[in-house]
Amino acid sequence: MDSTSKLSTATIALHWIVALGMISLIASGIYMHETEAFSIYPLHKSFGVLITLFVLWRIYLRIKNGWPTPVRQYKPLEIRLSKIVHWLLIIGTILMPVSGMMMSGLGGHGIPFFGLELLARNPSPENPKEVIAYSESLAFAGKVMHGLGGNILIAAITLHLLGALKHHFIDKDATLLRMLGKSK
Ligand code: HEM
Ligand code: HEM
Repeated sequence: MDSTSKLSTATIALHWIVALGMISLIASGIYMHETEAFSIYPLHKSFGVLITLFVLWRIYLRIKNGWPTPVRQYKPLEIRLSKIVHWLLIIGTILMPVSGMMMSGLGGHGIPFFGLELLARNPSPENPKEVIAYSESLAFAGKVMHGLGGNILIAAITLHLLGALKHHFIDKDATLLRMLGKSK
């Protein structure tokens, strides 16, 4: 269980698996979008589906155990800001894979999972290189959410990182150390 002085192994491991996964997926997603590097699409999608399992496990633990209590008394404004950012991060971690699956799956492009086919491509009978969307409107909604969600997540992660660095270097408290499994 999480306590004021120590976080559980599950909280720490899930935080860093999801954090590194999200940052890598954002970087690869932007690279794909900018360069049309189609060879990495299946890897991006597969890791996106895989990370969803860790995200769901993490959300389950948050619902069951609540948020970790702060290491010390923060100012009310700090508490409010960190709550907003933590909620944005949690919502972003679920919105990104869901919107990615809507965009690709319902767009007819298919959802691969490391060589397996979770949802098959839907090739056009006239030109098999083209695909037909299962639902054009939901695939479009997924695309808009994936692009917008990515930008909101980048802003939230930047604020979150700045907050963690402020706690460590300016306030000199144990917030970051506790998430690294260390004590002050
Ligand atoms: C789970 C976390 C995920 C994150 C953080 C993430 C992040 C991103 C980002 C930031 C982009 C660039 C979007 C843009 O600039 O418009 C992107 C593109 C893309 N993502 Fe994801 N993604 C995730 C999961 C998925 C999943 C599960 C799928 C599909 C099954 C997927 C499919 C795609 C595709 C096809 C693109 C390229 C879109 C284009 O070329 O415009 N993503 N992703
Ligand atoms: C960029 C590097 C990162 C650092 C240095 C970092 C650091 C931290 C620290 C120190 C805490 C504890 C805050 C507290 O005790 O009040 C925390 C909590 C949290 N972080 Fe991060 N983090 C990073 C990236 C991320 C990313 C990318 C995500 C998700 C997209 C994320 C999601 C969360 C969430 C939701 C919490 C709330 C506590 C929990 O649910 O475990 N973090 N982070």
